[in-house]
Amino acid sequence: MERTLRISKIREGIVIDHIPGGKSLKVLSVLNIGEKSGYTVSVAMFVQSNRMKTKDVLKIESRFLEKSELDRIALIAPDATISVIKNYEISEKFTVEIPKRILGILKCNNQNCITNGREPIRPEFELLSRSPLVIRCIFCERNMGESEIHSSL
Ligand code: CTP
Ligand code: ZN
Repeated sequence: MERTLRISKIREGIVIDHIPGGKSLKVLSVLNIGEKSGYTVSVAMFVQSNRMKTKDVLKIESRFLEKSELDRIALIAPDATISVIKNYEISEKFTVEIPKRILGILKCNNQNCITNGREPIRPEFELLSRSPLVIRCIFCERNMGESEIHSSL
């Protein structure tokens, strides 16, 4: 139990906790939150979490998340917990989950894959393994690992 809050409470918005240390900037980038987005963001990075690992915490004011955004976050921070804050109270709290079928949010790395062809086909992957993260394109059966996934998000 922390004695003090590292970053102050927010009135409205979301708190994303238990992001692997250093990955919060990647989470902000997949949410398209930057200089021009107009959101107020608090970031705590490399917070001591347990003996071995550090975590990041993000608080984004006046922003809520869609399903596809939760799926993207799960691919970066599979153990992230999301708290939805309304009027200073937690109105919802849940853990993200990598879906068994990943639809539409990632491009296949294989340039010859039918999903990268001229006729647009929605990419679809199946989750092979959570840790280490491995997914497989259902069209060309190419596997993608964590670093490939993160660079194509
Ligand atoms: N929080 C916030 N603003 C609020 C309410 C909560 O920023 N008005 C944040 C807290 O600082 C915490 C997260 O939302 O980071 C979840 O709140 P809570 O469940 O009360 O905290 P913990 O019990 O510490 O969460 P956990 O057990 O998941 O670490
Ligand atoms: Zn493919």
